[in-house]
Amino acid sequence: MNYLSIQDIDHLPTWVDEARKLKSAPRAHRPLGAGKTLCLLFFNNSLRTRLSTQKAAMNLGMEVMVMNFGTEGWALEYGDGTIMDQGKSEHIKEAAQVVSQFCDIVAIRAFATLTDKQKDEAELVLNGFVKYAGIPVLNMESSVGHPLQALADAITIAEQKNKERPKVVLSWAPHPKALPHAVANSFVQMMQLQEADFVITHPKGYELNPEITKNVPIEYDQEKALKGADFVYVKNWSSYSDYGAILHQDSSWMVTKKKLATAQLMHCLPVRRNVVLSDDALDSDRSLVITQANNRTYAAQLVLKKIIEHL
Ligand code: CP
Repeated sequence: MNYLSIQDIDHLPTWVDEARKLKSAPRAHRPLGAGKTLCLLFFNNSLRTRLSTQKAAMNLGMEVMVMNFGTEGWALEYGDGTIMDQGKSEHIKEAAQVVSQFCDIVAIRAFATLTDKQKDEAELVLNGFVKYAGIPVLNMESSVGHPLQALADAITIAEQKNKERPKVVLSWAPHPKALPHAVANSFVQMMQLQEADFVITHPKGYELNPEITKNVPIEYDQEKALKGADFVYVKNWSSYSDYGAILHQDSSWMVTKKKLATAQLMHCLPVRRNVVLSDDALDSDRSLVITQANNRTYAAQLVLKKIIEHL
């Protein structure tokens, strides 16, 4: 069993219930992971994913190895039949098979480059490990998705909602750097698996991949979209159609406490204060960002538990 995208969740409400049970007794399944090793490979930076996934594995009694592959590993080649006489030192075929000698599960973080849509969507790193490692692969944020984050977000909404069908708004916010679509994509896919009045709001030109958003309503007026919201999930992403471009920096889209009204605030973190979210929003008692980060452990723990049970 792999966990590569939200589509690997067979029934979201059951997964959320199971994760909440793990949260109430995190070390109850320690014998399950005894003698099993998880290897975390980071091609990009991380705080939450790195620590929460290690914590999850430790709660299950596993051993964990971590490597900053992007800065400390050999530069990998992914193409078939490439004459490797340039900068790449090792092929994914050998690298993935070697990694699999040392662990039972491999977890990969490899962000989108935002320079080549076709290559990003091919998920060369993640799919390279799926193809050649021969062991279960866990996605810790790839070019297209961040399914561990979205599962943690689903747990957070389930814990905090006070009605069966809450209004949930995904709002774009400004950011000085071009950011990938992975978090927004997985959040949209996760929301499509649960009862909610779900709306996406962003300036024109920032439409996400229509194959992912499908029939989710898009409201270009942020104020209208936020009206009556129970949860506001704030995230920046770059343009998808003009792939990786920052079309403009409209600071009026920053989310403030006033804009939240009675809604609870969600963000995956890291976040730039007073650019994406105002201090008064982040510091308010409506902010769920630390709870979301904490729930990353139980999302990862549930996924690892399911993978181990399938070994
Ligand atoms: N939300 C999230 O994935 O955080 P990190 O990038 O710090 O892991």
